[in-house]
Amino acid sequence: MNQETNNKKQKWVVTAAWPYVNATPHLGTILQLLSADVFARYRRQQGDEVVCVSGSDSHGTPITVAAQREGIPPEELSFAKHEEILNILREWRIEYENYTITHTDHHIRFIQDFYRKCFENGFIFEKTEKQLYCNHDKMFLPDRYVEGICPVCGAERARGDQCTASECGAIYGAAELIEPKCVICGNTPKLQDTTHWYFDFGFFTDELTEFISNHKILSNKVKQEALNLIKDGIPARSITRDLIWGVPAEPIFGPKAANKSIYVWFEAVLGYISATAEYFNKEGESPDKWKEFWFEKDTKLIFAIGKDNLIFHLLIFPALVLGTKEPYILPYQSMTTQFLMFEGKAFSKSHGIGIWGDEATNLLPSDYWRFVLIANRPENRDTNFYWTEFEKLVNSGLNDSVGNFINRAISLVHRYFDGIVPSIDKEELEDLAFAKEITNSVSAVQNLLDVFSLKDGLLRIIALASEGNSYFSSRQPWHLIKEQPNQAKTVLNLGIQLAHALGALLAPFTPDASERIFKQLNLSENPHRRAYSSITSSSIPAGHQLGKPEPLFVKIDAKELEQQLIDNRKTQTISTKEEDKKSVNDQEEVIDYSHFSSVKMVVGTIEKVEEVEGAEKLLKLQVNIGEEIRQIVAGIRQYYSPDQLLNRQVIVVKNLKPIKLRGEYSNGMLLAADEDGAPILLGADRPVNNGTIIK
Ligand code: MF3
Ligand code: ZN
Repeated sequence: MNQETNNKKQKWVVTAAWPYVNATPHLGTILQLLSADVFARYRRQQGDEVVCVSGSDSHGTPITVAAQREGIPPEELSFAKHEEILNILREWRIEYENYTITHTDHHIRFIQDFYRKCFENGFIFEKTEKQLYCNHDKMFLPDRYVEGICPVCGAERARGDQCTASECGAIYGAAELIEPKCVICGNTPKLQDTTHWYFDFGFFTDELTEFISNHKILSNKVKQEALNLIKDGIPARSITRDLIWGVPAEPIFGPKAANKSIYVWFEAVLGYISATAEYFNKEGESPDKWKEFWFEKDTKLIFAIGKDNLIFHLLIFPALVLGTKEPYILPYQSMTTQFLMFEGKAFSKSHGIGIWGDEATNLLPSDYWRFVLIANRPENRDTNFYWTEFEKLVNSGLNDSVGNFINRAISLVHRYFDGIVPSIDKEELEDLAFAKEITNSVSAVQNLLDVFSLKDGLLRIIALASEGNSYFSSRQPWHLIKEQPNQAKTVLNLGIQLAHALGALLAPFTPDASERIFKQLNLSENPHRRAYSSITSSSIPAGHQLGKPEPLFVKIDAKELEQQLIDNRKTQTISTKEEDKKSVNDQEEVIDYSHFSSVKMVVGTIEKVEEVEGAEKLLKLQVNIGEEIRQIVAGIRQYYSPDQLLNRQVIVVKNLKPIKLRGEYSNGMLLAADEDGAPILLGADRPVNNGTIIK
């Protein structure tokens, strides 16, 4: 597009909810990260200035509880998970200006400066009250660290903030629990004085009311809900916690705040701002560059979040930024979704319900998942991921509609015109209508995406591809070519125009496929820069030489994929990613414990020894590792006789990817010292039970 017009570009800050680092993201979590990515890609493609940010939410009790469970410091857990999330995002082609993490000096300093301003402005007050303190663990117990009997329904093992032990769902303070217990040590905590700092939302009643009532695009339903809450008075909320892991509160509030940190929600949500600033710092821009986005009133701020986070983002976040008295922008729109469920149930790692980000792309390339998550995006109601639906969407939408049409169009031009786009010499009414349909659909998709209807926008693109197929079936260029070649030329010219349009339209959704479509069309331009407004029914000139047609997608069988997922989970092994291989080769690299502990090793006993036919170095062993007998093929035949091996205890790596050696399946590995190439088997110091863990 013409840059010289000097039109000011629209600025966007596009954000997605920060996933906690206590778990690998599943499809439901990725949905938000993906939604922001799709929308940001769409805006960039139209030539807008976009900063898309999110990051790993690394603080708070969900993380300390998870770290404690794994026996590692929260910092280690956070960065290990953060790496894992970064890898998942890369695989999914979720590409932000900045996907960062809350545990950085930059973020911590930003948060401290931010709340210092709110404090100095008088919007934060201090209050001392009684809270449960565990004498054994020497700490005040945050809500999640207390369990007891629910004061409302009497259920046992109710959590400290809300009763989830029964249907009751009552919300209360941990101090109200009957027979409270510390979840770390099980002792009974005692009430003790503690001081906390409260953000007083009451100051912002008028400004929030005005912001919501005058908002141009929020739905009436959302406005009403928000206004009701404001009217009831948003209670002051404590923004500090007695927790060391987090953004330290002492530099803001002084020595009384020693060992306290900012409540995770009140800092993660400001990460949208700090991540923008961090992005420009990394880009080498001036330290105030981020203000050109956040302090400029025309910038549009968008959230990709689930419905449960909406009010927090629409009321609490604006109040916080107002507390600085700096000219922050307020939210423009929230791309809120309803919940995504999995086959009728909530995602649950412990019950194996769901699909996790890394598992997904191990099964199929990211385009398939990106397509299905958006085509099935819960925009109006809670929605399920069903395998059957997944298969239908992929096979009909991606294959029969898009892939099939583009393949037909390019192949036919090769068959009849040596791959050179024919000219339009004669147009029938049907051709004119079809050309019109292309441009109409492009604007329809654009209109939908402009109002954040990602799902309907994508479905409209798929419908357009289907119309292309119907057009071909009706015009039958393979017949026209004999009797009315001019008409065949027209039909195929328009077919190529549609292929180009589909390639450009799909860029935000299925970036790989878009790039491949452009490549097959032999276009050197970048599909991600092809603004929708420039897509016409004559974008590709006659005479243009096309590239080779290649299938874009394959059909899937959901049953097979489901089985494969189960198999993959069984043989889940230490990562074989390039990086890991590299790090093994780098000499003396330091690894953290989680790295080490991902190698699962146990003691086993060799119960059977056989030779492997035709392999003079190999022995086939049956090793009892407690829960099962493992067949392991080991290259030790020249060094050990069967007698020396039988009933001997060895150390087995049990989660190594199974391999076939000389036609024999080997599922595990024995540890041995290597003395000039000769293996010396390792064992335990004295006999122990098979299956005993090595750590
Ligand atoms: N980590 C929170 C969650 O997973 C979401 C934080 S989004 C925030 O529920 F930006 F509001 F912090
Ligand atoms: Zn305790």
